[in-house]
Amino acid sequence: MSYPSAVKIVEVGPRDGLQNESVSLDVATKVQLVHGLADTGLTIIEAGSFVSPKWVPQMAGSDDVFNQLSPSHATYTALTPNMRGLERAIECNVKEIAVFAAASEAFSQKNINCSIDESLEKFKAVTQKALDHNIAVRGYISCVAGCPYQGEVDYKNVRSIAQSLLDMGCYEISLGDTIGVATPAVTERLLSELLKAIEPSKLAMHMHDTYGRAIDNIKQSLAMGISTIDSSVAGLGGCPYAKGASGNVATEKVIALLDELDIVHGVDLQKLTQISQFICEKLGRPVFTD
Ligand code: HMG
Ligand code: MG
Repeated sequence: MSYPSAVKIVEVGPRDGLQNESVSLDVATKVQLVHGLADTGLTIIEAGSFVSPKWVPQMAGSDDVFNQLSPSHATYTALTPNMRGLERAIECNVKEIAVFAAASEAFSQKNINCSIDESLEKFKAVTQKALDHNIAVRGYISCVAGCPYQGEVDYKNVRSIAQSLLDMGCYEISLGDTIGVATPAVTERLLSELLKAIEPSKLAMHMHDTYGRAIDNIKQSLAMGISTIDSSVAGLGGCPYAKGASGNVATEKVIALLDELDIVHGVDLQKLTQISQFICEKLGRPVFTD
């Protein structure tokens, strides 16, 4: 079995983490979090989301967060569900956005209030306009291993949505196990289907750790050539439209796995632990320990 020699970590804590925390943080704290994460060596940080504040109030101040971020080696990215979101991203000079589809019709309706096909139509226009503005676009697919509303999903459907997102100009597809139901066997079957048509370098794993299986699933995907992993400092968060979804796999746990497998990641664990403690204290959560 061979693993990649290096892995890119996409830190989603300031977005996926904070969007589902009951404590709403002020802009200064969010900015301090993002700066602290950049200081650890992380190169891609999802710093907020330009969605409707009525749907996700925790992300309401994202414009102010982006406007206060200092340039660094890190790319700061944002979720944009529609043209209004993209316009806000352009106003804040964001260099990378993400559109987010789902592999399940029921989840698509609950999360973004439209069908999968309607969402892909909207994302095509958003992606085109973003690329015209030299903004890179990432594509998410939620519920790739199962849906909280409709149960099983068809992996062929995941593949065709991934292909549509790539065709419209997304540079990478992040596969979201939104409710953490994947196992290594499920991960193997899902990726086998996707890798029939898509290069591993264009895929990322976005595993929520609801049942404590995220690390085993990530190990399986690394063995199948995937080299981009999403994670959230201290394992914060979840999805407000997937009841019971717990946080993303903790960045600390991913780093421990990569160190164990001797895979380069470029993150300073000591600095990460400090920023992890900082955000846990601000949220009133117990400090993360593995
Ligand atoms: P809608 O209600 O159908 O939209 O929501 P609308 O166009 O009818 O607009 C309704 C109101 O929202 C209007 O305001 C709009 O102006 C406003 P009003 O006239 O009522 O005052 N609005 C906006 N405001 C600011 N920014 C915007 C925006 N768009 C509309 N961009 C919509 C459709 C997509 C907007 C809504 O459903 C939404 O915001 N959904 C986002 C839900 C969300 O953020 N979910 C969590 C992120 S996804 C996730 O966590 C999964 C992931 O991590 C992967 C995984 O784990 O699987 C990525
Ligand atoms: Mg997520």
